[in-house]
Amino acid sequence: MKTTSKSLVICGTDTDIGKTIVSSFFVQGLHATYWKPVQSGTENGTDTQTVCKLLSLEKNRYLSEVYKFKTPVSPHWAAEKESQEIDPDKLIIPKIDELLIIETAGGLMVPLNRNLLQIDQLKVWDLPIILVAKTELGTLNHTLLSLEALKNRNLNVIGLVLNGLPHEDNPKTLEAFGNTQILAKLPIFSELNAKILTQEWNKQQLKQKLREYI
Ligand SMILES: Nc1ncnc2c1ncn2[C@@H]1O[C@H](COP(=O)(O)OP(=O)(O)O)[C@@H](O)[C@H]1O
Ligand SMILES: [Mg+2]
Repeated sequence: MKTTSKSLVICGTDTDIGKTIVSSFFVQGLHATYWKPVQSGTENGTDTQTVCKLLSLEKNRYLSEVYKFKTPVSPHWAAEKESQEIDPDKLIIPKIDELLIIETAGGLMVPLNRNLLQIDQLKVWDLPIILVAKTELGTLNHTLLSLEALKNRNLNVIGLVLNGLPHEDNPKTLEAFGNTQILAKLPIFSELNAKILTQEWNKQQLKQKLREYI
């Protein structure tokens, strides 16, 4: 293992907002390694399995979860249901040669245990953050609240990835009130595979916007 590594954290304004798809997009585009340290809900497969299958990842392109819980509920409660507790000392960023894409669990204010929110863990990591948001109705409130919480903690938000159908007004309104940039807008894919994500990556010209982080 090497001593330095670069990492980007993929957060979301909510659960089911597209963090796993956006993480796959970055892993594919940047030939990065994927890590989902805390997984709640394993019965319909894990996010790690989804990314591995979607991108046909080899073993050295992903890291195993630190915590994996059966029930698809907030991590703090999923852990308790299995008589466990998430220990933040176990969530140390692994040092690897490649760029690491870290997918968080749920939204920012999701508890990891009874004393620690996801966003508190982000502060411990203090890594650059990409926030995934939907394009449609409801995104202004959720996204601006999320950005405010991140900025209040002096976290480094690189920008937003908007996931979903194009919207006439929301992108510019989020950039203006959120004082941030939109890094990419992902369409709804009718089919998802590595090739399609590569084609999308090539269209979006993201490397330039990420140059100081990767
Ligand atoms: N841009 C997209 N195109 C097609 N399907 C998508 C897209 N984004 C998300 N989905 C689908 O929506 C669901 C939730 O997305 P996911 O990435 O798993 O969200 P999260 O990781 O935030 O919970 C999944 O079934 C995923 O395949
Ligand atoms: Mg996910």
